Amino acid sequence: GTGLNSIAGKRGLRFGSAVAWCPPGADRGGVGNPRYTALLERDCGILVAENEMKWQRLRPTPTTFDFERADAIAAYAKAKGMAMRGHTLLWHQTKWMPRWEANHDFGPRPSPTGAAMLTNHIQIVVGRYAPRVTSWDVVNEAVNPDGSGLYETALSRAIGGAEATLDLAFRTARAAAPGAQLVYNDYMSWEPDNARHRAGVLKLLEGFRTRGTPVDALGVQSHLVTQPGGSLTAQQAEWRRFLDAVTAMGYKLVVTEFDVRDNGLPADPAARDRAVADYARAYLDVTLGYPQLREILAWGMTDRYSWIEGFEPRADKALRRPTLYDREFKPKPLHAAVAAAL
Ligand code: XIL
Repeated sequence: GTGLNSIAGKRGLRFGSAVAWCPPGADRGGVGNPRYTALLERDCGILVAENEMKWQRLRPTPTTFDFERADAIAAYAKAKGMAMRGHTLLWHQTKWMPRWEANHDFGPRPSPTGAAMLTNHIQIVVGRYAPRVTSWDVVNEAVNPDGSGLYETALSRAIGGAEATLDLAFRTARAAAPGAQLVYNDYMSWEPDNARHRAGVLKLLEGFRTRGTPVDALGVQSHLVTQPGGSLTAQQAEWRRFLDAVTAMGYKLVVTEFDVRDNGLPADPAARDRAVADYARAYLDVTLGYPQLREILAWGMTDRYSWIEGFEPRADKALRRPTLYDREFKPKPLHAAVAAAL
């Protein structure tokens, strides 16, 4: 084949993407949309649910689960023989937990109720999607990018602090799925303004090793942001220093959510696409050079449905071009750049 996963396979790598749930025929980046699934089937060997395995979607109340949409995505992956990553067993920030979590009564602290809720959640979710899910983002985005340390949530305060909560999450996941790759996933990237975030992540990863917490890999989300006028060689060197420090601790690497925020670029779409592709290529050349990395997943395949539009809306939607395919499902220079980097 000529798809990205076939190209990646020649080097023992795998390419994949996020996919959402959607009803049949919806104009969305989901399993019900044949125009979208055609892209997945062309390029992907592994999928991840964009939102459907998060607490916000799985846990309508403290005592119930709703697996319908996550199951539909897992069933699609199974039908197409694709692997899956799981995202995420704990998105460790109040705004990304279900609304009920902030005011939930966890009882006295340290709270057996809180610890039981977390371990129960992980055992049930991991158990349900084994063996299709071979790699889990056990914890997502726990490090405050400003350098002030780890976030706390109502749940983590109940359990006895963020560190104890993260350790409990990883130990529970290891016991529930001994064969699965366990990942700490975060968005510290190679841009100059991420230095504090990178330092905070390194500190967390060191702590995991000191305490013997079972973490196998760092998920580098790779939501890149173009830096017009910046020095790519300086960024590459900075990024290499970071990945060297991570891999020196024995961690593997996974690119989990690749896309490019095309900020500050010329209005001409062709010029934008060229700049985005060159920027991404410089990043991937460094990142894919690490033998510890075997997988790269994009956070959606087409500009038509990219989450970036909701995250950072733009008056002229046509000028939002963060993914591999354009709004009409045509491959862009970024697609060729990824193919060449693989
Ligand atoms: C995003 C989804 O794409 C959006 O649909 C949702 O509204 C918010 O979450 N980092 C992550 C992902 O780890 O879970 C986020 O996904 C994007 C940033």
